[in-house]
Amino acid sequence: MAEGFVAALPSAGSTAVQEASPAERQQEIVMKLEEKVALTLDQLGIRDPASVQRLFAEVREALLAERQQLVAGGAADEADRIRLAKALRDRWLGRKNGLLSFIGEHWLKPAERDLKPSVGRAFNELRQLAAELEVERLAAQIPIRAPHKAAESPEAGRPISAPAPDLSLPGYRRPLGSIHPITRVQREIEEIFLGLGYRIETGPEIESTYYNFDALNIPESHPSRDDVDTFYLDARTVLRTHTSPVQIRAMQKFGAPLYIIIPGTCYRRDNPDATHSPMFHQMEGLAIDEDITFADLKGTLDYFAKRLLGERTRTRLTPSFFPFTEPSGELAVSCFLCEGKGCRTCKQSGWIELGGCGMVHPEVLRAGGIDPDRYSGWAFGMGIDRFAMTKYDIGDIQLFFQSDVRFLEQF
Ligand code: PHE
Repeated sequence: MAEGFVAALPSAGSTAVQEASPAERQQEIVMKLEEKVALTLDQLGIRDPASVQRLFAEVREALLAERQQLVAGGAADEADRIRLAKALRDRWLGRKNGLLSFIGEHWLKPAERDLKPSVGRAFNELRQLAAELEVERLAAQIPIRAPHKAAESPEAGRPISAPAPDLSLPGYRRPLGSIHPITRVQREIEEIFLGLGYRIETGPEIESTYYNFDALNIPESHPSRDDVDTFYLDARTVLRTHTSPVQIRAMQKFGAPLYIIIPGTCYRRDNPDATHSPMFHQMEGLAIDEDITFADLKGTLDYFAKRLLGERTRTRLTPSFFPFTEPSGELAVSCFLCEGKGCRTCKQSGWIELGGCGMVHPEVLRAGGIDPDRYSGWAFGMGIDRFAMTKYDIGDIQLFFQSDVRFLEQF
């Protein structure tokens, strides 16, 4: 069909008078296209990127329409299929007389300097689209028409579709993603606590002020309840600012004894910058039983840190304050890079801060329906994002949330 390229042109005006049939209309587009590719863009009066876009859109549409028509028309037999598919391929991709080589010669090559980038881009897109006109693949899509005598056979009415796919052809490979670094760290932490017999518990990200604040002994006047810090959906509903409300929910659901970790997304009204994001992730730990003491907190967190960062890791607890724990502490671990000597990763301090912890406040146990005279517990909450940044030496927290494959595929 390559040489039929010009021969196929109907004589001018032949279809213009009567209503054109779809096939004729199609041919009209074909004709126009063939005429157009014989001229340069300048000759076609195309002198700005928008017109280039339109022209190429028209070409792409023509290609898709021709392919669709080919498939819809069906073929008489296997040989006919191949012939039809090959004809379409040649028409577009034929080395010398294919439409694409004309477009390259007449549109792209002589294009004006300032138009060239947009023509180049559009041409590449078209090439990618045309690359799909691979003969075998195309042929496989063309159904073979049922022979007429089939109408009398007992199987009449059963549509004869394309032959069974050739299972020896290579399949389409979809690129596999990778585990997001936040998820990766989350899972590492989960593994350690699962090994200690903790279970994973989750809760809602849209939370009531009761669970997010009141039940956690956070008074009405506490600054964290301010709408400067918290996203309020209405006066009594917030985007949870930490994973701690799940402590209460889990106590109410399971009672004591209770050993859980709570991974999850949290929200605070921080402006995004290299170290802040209005959306971030926490991992909460909670152990409630008879005779749980501060020694359990220390021992468990020390074991956890060593499993997470290596046997030589040391832990440090410094006094702190949270309304829902008493006493409260901040947990830091010796830097896994310099082992405490001081380096860039730990900002010369030798320590990396992981989060807050403490003994569960009796009021909090009570809110969870657990008797503080019988049970006691410890809890901790750590930020996953900051830790992942330290672990993987990532300078900007925003990278976690931009979904840039070039970043994500490194994990
Ligand atoms: N919820 C606290 C925060 O977001 C962390 C924390 C959890 C502290 C559990 C103590 C106990 O900062």
